[in-house]
Amino acid sequence: MTITIRRLHPHVGGEVSPIDLRQVHDRATLEQLRAGMDEYGVLVFRNQPFTDAEQLAFAQRFDGTLHAKPGAAALGANRFGNDAIADISNVDNDGKILKVNDRKRAYSLGNRLWHTDASFQDPAGRYSTLSARVIPKVNANTEFACMRAAYESLPAATQQKLEGLQVHHTITRSREILGFTFSDEEKNKLKGAIHPMVRTNPRTGRKSLYLASHAARVLGWEVPDGLLFVIELMEHATQRQFVYSHEWRDGDFVIWDNLATMHRATAFDDIAHHRELRRVTTIDLPLPV
Ligand code: OGA
Ligand code: MN
Repeated sequence: MTITIRRLHPHVGGEVSPIDLRQVHDRATLEQLRAGMDEYGVLVFRNQPFTDAEQLAFAQRFDGTLHAKPGAAALGANRFGNDAIADISNVDNDGKILKVNDRKRAYSLGNRLWHTDASFQDPAGRYSTLSARVIPKVNANTEFACMRAAYESLPAATQQKLEGLQVHHTITRSREILGFTFSDEEKNKLKGAIHPMVRTNPRTGRKSLYLASHAARVLGWEVPDGLLFVIELMEHATQRQFVYSHEWRDGDFVIWDNLATMHRATAFDDIAHHRELRRVTTIDLPLPV
């Protein structure tokens, strides 16, 4: 089937014409979606009533291997008994809204910092699929920054400076920024991973900045200099002109390319309003030819 995509923002985000992704199995349509990801970085699909099993199956047939080592797994098992499903919600195992001092809540609030999913793993996360299950009446948008436009707008001298730089990413870093503490045993499971600061999409040749609040140090740089550089680049990349803000509707399903975007949750009164989504992320393995 042929899909069409409506641009939602000058740099990042497109809304795909009506389609039921649960029924999409043919390689040709799936590759049209990949081409859409390469062009838009974020694709929005309306009215997608996924179950967890259907979402897992879709992510696998779309892009292959699932990311099943989320940072949260070091804190304990999730309520689904499957680490490939990330519980993007503010509820406990009984479906009750988490208390203000709950550790799971504190950990989840790290999603309000700009990041990419699974940059603390090797291979890193490639596509994240996020399925809306309970959307509050108040605004609780997800924002996406275009890391390609951010890279392309840098002065040539800065682009030059970035070549070959390697960054250590760890989930402990983004949580510690907010005062969250880990036990030694948890830290042992969360050593992180090293990734280049610039990535090139193998299909389009376009380069993008690869940064996140998980970035803890730039290899070969002094600690303050490396992190300052990362922070300045993240500020550059998240200027309004590079950001698409997604306002969730019931039934929404959003896919983003973690290698070409950063994202963050925005603030809402999470003690008063139930919000529940499920995320399944694939990892950045070479594609079969
Ligand atoms: C995620 C994430 C942001 C949000 O699902 O990976 O960061 O708005 N979500 O919930
Ligand atoms: Mn995320």
